[in-house]
Amino acid sequence: MTRQMIVGMHLGNGYGNLPGAWRAPAVDPKSYTSFDAKVRHAQAAERGKLHFLFLPDGPTHVGDIENEPPHFNLDVMVTLAAVARETSRIGLVATGSTTFNEPFNLARQFKALDVMSHGRTGWNAVTSSGQDVAANYGQRVLSSPERYGRAHETIQLVQSLWGSWGKTAWMHDKATGRFADADQIAPINMGGNFVASRGPLYIPPSEQGQPVVFHAGGSANALELAGRYASGVIGAAFTINDARAQRAAFREAAQLAGRDPGELKFFAGLMTTITRDKREGLDRRITLSGRIFPQRASYLGQILGLGLDPAQPDEPLSQEQLSKARPSAGDPRSANALRIASEGWTIRDVLAHGVIDYHPVVVGPAAEAADHMQKWFEAEAVDGFWVSPDIYEDGIDAFVDGVVPILQDRGLFHREYNGTTLREHLGVPAQYGVDPRVTK
Ligand SMILES: Cc1cc2nc3c(=O)[nH]c(=O)nc-3n(C[C@H](O)[C@H](O)[C@H](O)COP(=O)(O)O)c2cc1C
Repeated sequence: MTRQMIVGMHLGNGYGNLPGAWRAPAVDPKSYTSFDAKVRHAQAAERGKLHFLFLPDGPTHVGDIENEPPHFNLDVMVTLAAVARETSRIGLVATGSTTFNEPFNLARQFKALDVMSHGRTGWNAVTSSGQDVAANYGQRVLSSPERYGRAHETIQLVQSLWGSWGKTAWMHDKATGRFADADQIAPINMGGNFVASRGPLYIPPSEQGQPVVFHAGGSANALELAGRYASGVIGAAFTINDARAQRAAFREAAQLAGRDPGELKFFAGLMTTITRDKREGLDRRITLSGRIFPQRASYLGQILGLGLDPAQPDEPLSQEQLSKARPSAGDPRSANALRIASEGWTIRDVLAHGVIDYHPVVVGPAAEAADHMQKWFEAEAVDGFWVSPDIYEDGIDAFVDGVVPILQDRGLFHREYNGTTLREHLGVPAQYGVDPRVTK
């Protein structure tokens, strides 16, 4: 069979990636606290056979709370527990900090969710680098070597705890009266410079054994960590070349750790506004972009090497401006921003294309999103994507009903789930306990 892409769906605050998504006509403005809304969005993604949901987390709010909702879920594990009970196939990947959680808590929560979801859980193990998050735990952000030192120990401990209840330990045999085989349930007695645990963890294996580890980060330390433990990388790249280089670096890191590089899948972010035509999409984004316009116009000017006048948002760049523009080497988005500006769009429209958003943005007909995904996938820049729709309430359906069938017709995306577990969806090998190849 030809290689097919793996696609995940971002599930954040209940609204979508546009700051004003909470005010969109079809959206319940209380979706932030509505678990019904989150379940509905998860079910929409599952209808499209998407492989997993990705829930970022960084428990803090630094932003314009007067006008915009927080970015994250109330609690990623509680959300996924609700979603697990109302879905049956889609993978459930939540972010959990290796810095601000005890390994035993992480091991217990993620394995319990894995059992509850019948083997669909993934753990995005990140080190958390924000001072605002640290402050919520009464701490300060540690140096990178300290954060990653603790992350290595934490992941190894968590995986050891997951494996501390043997695969066939649970007998639940009413006739003999044996609940479990105590010989297969052993303490781990592990400790390092940062964390320790005696164990065992008292949770039997799930249908996939134990959760799948993901990572998100781009530093040398992040590469090494992902190379050793991760099966999925939640990535961020603005160009095919950048994504290809990142994917190659993660694969090389996996190889250095003694693993098959194909076990590590790299997913690039993609933000979508799927509409009948581009004008409709740009207008939808302009209406819901909140109060960010003047600031963004000034930043757009900076990365093009021009002073732009936010008071003239509905003028295109003049020929003189375009000829003077110099895309900034410091921002990988600037070449694309100049390309869009050169097409004659107004400053407001250039920004509505998402040229300075956090990930590449596709605005317009479904075929454009499919083309973007095909191009990146066929260039071997990604194993797939994590897609962040502008407004969950109708944006997930627009992706599922518009983009998915095109990818399927092109043979790039599966028509059915082949397995039931996240490991099967991702094509990553079975593992129980720590991977012996990375702890030798
Ligand atoms: C696409 C992407 C998603 C991320 N998601 C999260 C997240 O949900 N929570 C979090 O605390 N950090 C997240 N991070 C941040 C990384 O974990 C990391 O802290 C950051 O990239 C700084 O790199 P360093 O810690 O390797 O120095 C994400 C990073 C990337 C690239």
